[in-house]
Amino acid sequence: MSRFKDQVALITGSGRGIGKATALKFAEEGAFVLINDLHKESVDAVVAEINSLGGNAAAAGFDITDREVAAKAVQQIVEDHGSIDVLVNNAGGENMQPAESYASWDRVIGVNLTATFFMSQAVANASMIPRNRGAIVNLSSLAGLAALPNDVGYTAAKHAVVGLTKALGVEWAKYGIRVNAVSPGMSETPASLEWQKREPEAFEARIARVPWKRMGRAEEQAAAILFLASEDASFITGHTIPVDGGQMALNPGHSMRPQ
Ligand SMILES: NC(=O)c1ccc[n+]([C@@H]2O[C@H](COP(=O)([O-])OP(=O)(O)OC[C@H]3O[C@@H](n4cnc5c(N)ncnc54)[C@H](O)[C@@H]3O)[C@@H](O)[C@H]2O)c1
Repeated sequence: MSRFKDQVALITGSGRGIGKATALKFAEEGAFVLINDLHKESVDAVVAEINSLGGNAAAAGFDITDREVAAKAVQQIVEDHGSIDVLVNNAGGENMQPAESYASWDRVIGVNLTATFFMSQAVANASMIPRNRGAIVNLSSLAGLAALPNDVGYTAAKHAVVGLTKALGVEWAKYGIRVNAVSPGMSETPASLEWQKREPEAFEARIARVPWKRMGRAEEQAAAILFLASEDASFITGHTIPVDGGQMALNPGHSMRPQ
C-alpha cells in the first residue's frame, strides 16, 4: 500500500514507542516523514533506520511545548519540504501522583494538551488551511475516556484531547482538515514497560480487564493512526477510536473470568 505517496507527515515524539512505529509505517506507505523528539540521538536513529529501509525521513528535533520554537520549526519544514499533509500529535507523558499532592499539572497538561493544540494551530496555519487539505491525528488514552487513579493531570489532559479533537474536527471541516484521535489501551512501549516493572501488581490487574488479555502493540496503534490519517477515513472527523483489545467495551463492574 502507498496511501501517503507524495505526502509529508510530521510525527511528534517519534523517537520511540508508538510514535516511532507510526513513523516507520508512514514511511513504508510512501510518506516523507519528519521525526520529532526531544532526544537528538533517538531522532537520528529513527531517521537512519527509515532511510536504510528505503524510506524517506528527516530530523525535526524540537520541544513541542516551546510554542515559539515549535511554530518556527513548523514554518521551516513547510519551506523545506513544501507542505505538511499529516500531523500526528503523539508526544505525551504522565507522572503518577495522588491528586492531593499532584505537582506535575503544568508539565503534563503542557505536553499532552496545550502542545497538541498549538502544534495543530501552527501546522494548520502554515500548510493545511492555505492548501485546503490535511489530516491531524491526536493521541488520547483510555485515561481520556475514564479516570486513571493517581493520574489527575493526565486524565484531565487526555479527556481534553477528546474535546479538542471534536472542536477542531467541527471547526476546520470548512478547510478540508480532518481531526481525529486514538485512545490506546496499555501498549508495549518503553513508557509502559517501565511502569510494568515499577508496579507489577497494578499491571496484572489492568491486563485482567482486557478481553484480548494482553497489551497492545505499538504497530497496532500505528495502524489505526494511519487509517484515520488516510483517505480511507475521508468521512470521519472529530472522533476518538479506542484501540484497546475491548477494554472499554467491558462492563465496568466486571473483570474477565479466567477461561
Ligand atoms: N503506551 C501506552 O500504553 C499508551 C496508552 C495510552 C496513551 N498513550 C499515549 O500515546 C502517546 C505515545 O505513547 P508512548 O507510550 O509511545 O510514549 P513514550 O514515552 O514511549 O514516547 C513518547 C516520546 O515523546 C517524546 N516527547 C516527550 N515530550 C516531548 C516534547 N516536549 N517534545 C518532543 N518530544 C517529546 C519522548 O522523548 C518520547 O520519545 C502518548 O501521547 C501517550 O500518552 C500511550
